[in-house]
Amino acid sequence: MKSVPFTFEVCIADAILSHYDNHIQRRLSSMKGQFLDQAAYDALLAREDALLYEVYEIKRPEVAGELLHGLSIVHPGKVGDEYYMTKGHFHTVLETAEVYYCLKGQGMMVMETPEGEWAVEPLRPNTVLYVPPRWAHRSVNTSLTEDLVTFFVYPGHAGHDYRTIETQGFRKLVVERDGQPHIVDNPRWLSPEQRS
Ligand code: F6R
Ligand code: ZN
Repeated sequence: MKSVPFTFEVCIADAILSHYDNHIQRRLSSMKGQFLDQAAYDALLAREDALLYEVYEIKRPEVAGELLHGLSIVHPGKVGDEYYMTKGHFHTVLETAEVYYCLKGQGMMVMETPEGEWAVEPLRPNTVLYVPPRWAHRSVNTSLTEDLVTFFVYPGHAGHDYRTIETQGFRKLVVERDGQPHIVDNPRWLSPEQRS
């Protein structure tokens, strides 16, 4: 792919880019085992394989020096008490960071390191979130009416490790209690000691 300068427009109202190369759609069926309330997950899935989130990617060569970027849109909804969220991942090259710029909606970024440190930061319009190297990240839409739209940028060679999170989960979950988002412990999370 030739590297020449380019521009594109971000239409915030429709949460769409004027140019993108790839459109990924993640449905409920691809999130098996990720939500805590398995019965609620099964019941929802029996009714409909709902669209949880979408990613519009600008393709760049997946090499150091390039920057991969695009839009992530998490739709509103819950599985049991848990808000719709992305799968979440570590970067395969752990020492790579990522920047998220929130364009629309209300949410939280749940993060953790391989050593079990954790952090949850708010995502609100016009906020920039820096995910440092080594931190796994998952975006959660805490609105039940509006999409959560973020623009992301990360190094071309980062890669994605989904398996680790699929196996051990995130340490913290974001759930609705009395109409408000709350951060709670994930009872199924495996600590570094339990994993070995
Ligand atoms: C890329 C990145 C985002 C996410 C997107 C969907 O490194 O963090 O572009 O890929 O928000 O989330 P996942 O990839 O966890 O399904
Ligand atoms: Zn990432």
